[in-house]
Amino acid sequence: MIATTVAPAAVCPMSHGVSGTAPLPAPAPASAFDKAATFTERYLLAPDMVAAPYAHLDALRDHAPVHWSPMHHAWLVTGYEQVMRCLRDPAVSADRVRPLMDAVPQGARDDAERAFGILSRWMVFNDAPQHRRLRQVFQESFAARAVNRYRAFTEKATAAVLARRAAPGRTGDLMADLAKPLPALVFARWLGIPRTDSAAFWYWNARVADLVLGTAQEESEYRASLQALVSLEDYLASLVARRRAEPGDDLISQVLAEGRVGDTVTELEFVGMLTQMAFAGGETTSNLIANTLLALHQNPDALTAVREEPELVRGAVEETLRLDGPSKMSIRTARADLGLDGHTLRAGDRIFLVTAAANRDPARFPDPGRFDVRRTGATHLGLGFGAHFCIGAALARLVACAAVSALVRDHPGLTVTDPAALTWQPSLLNRSLTALPVRY
Ligand code: HEM
Repeated sequence: MIATTVAPAAVCPMSHGVSGTAPLPAPAPASAFDKAATFTERYLLAPDMVAAPYAHLDALRDHAPVHWSPMHHAWLVTGYEQVMRCLRDPAVSADRVRPLMDAVPQGARDDAERAFGILSRWMVFNDAPQHRRLRQVFQESFAARAVNRYRAFTEKATAAVLARRAAPGRTGDLMADLAKPLPALVFARWLGIPRTDSAAFWYWNARVADLVLGTAQEESEYRASLQALVSLEDYLASLVARRRAEPGDDLISQVLAEGRVGDTVTELEFVGMLTQMAFAGGETTSNLIANTLLALHQNPDALTAVREEPELVRGAVEETLRLDGPSKMSIRTARADLGLDGHTLRAGDRIFLVTAAANRDPARFPDPGRFDVRRTGATHLGLGFGAHFCIGAALARLVACAAVSALVRDHPGLTVTDPAALTWQPSLLNRSLTALPVRY
């Protein structure tokens, strides 16, 4: 039996803010003999769950890999096989624009119509067959071969950022010094954002993130976020017009040259999808850089292995995506009633696909808690799976590998200065350090 002793919390379906924080239940006692009797559900945004979620997620998966949580108003799916089944099932929908819209306070609704029209064009919120048509437009430009053209730029940008901020012996915050600025530099170059526009561009993206991840709480914050999304769309529409007239060496020009915009998708749809790109890739890639660096410092044998065989950096990034990746879960809704693991999920039910738990499922990963940079054969879900598998995976891997390689190679004395004091953003979806203090 599950002891759900707390009041239900109003959690925004894409929430990363603490909306409606619940009183905390007592910690779950672990018993190898009678898990079912002693398992206590925890609110996933409680501070200790944000700081260290994995022991609880392991216990939840052992207790019930498919579990209705009154506390989260959602099914928590934590078993690898069960998550995969949901990601493959057409009865499980990725459309969650409506609940996001419902969260907007009444006073900010006037501004919402156009902004939510834009969100409804994001591929991540669309189901088949619409989704396939939208995604197709970007498929070639995101392929590893195309992304590889940015390798030299990325490596040069990494060296330049580190030279400026990471003098040996200096103390600093690796998030602020490298993990945040590097993806911003690379994505601006890749999207073709002129340097003079980049401050406004990143401001709008940050406000859009507040809206989609649920950080916006006050009416004024909602208004700022909705307005930012509209401004971002206007800006990108004008940039697309400029690139049509004068093509450059960037994503927008490349996609326009392929001829699908105006054919299989409208220009409005193309611009709408562009408003998702920097939001989707920026913070996640920053977190992948920081989390990988931290994981290597928590696993000295792995760090030594990467020093001795630099190509193992790829394995370190993949293990971080599996064990402590930037994305903890994907959110879905049941489009129709469906059976899963002996349960009936009803049409309209919210489903949290907790990939952070599935990625540690011993049924899929031998010795799942081990950070093994030589691990093979396992398809982790840190970048999603199936139709919505992260389209930016090659770009994220390129930037993260460049950053971690440079740190391991050029900063052999780097230490994480106070690992016990690290704190994490209160987010259901993202695994994001507030800062990573280091000595270079
Ligand atoms: C480490 C960095 C990244 C992580 C951990 C990550 C994670 C994810 C995950 C888990 C999904 C699936 C979402 C779902 O199923 O609901 C996804 C989808 C997506 N990601 Fe990423 N992502 C990263 C980087 C990027 C980058 C760099 C870009 C683009 C510049 C990007 C663009 C997208 C887009 C557009 C989708 C939606 C794909 C679709 O719906 O077909 N991501 N990402």
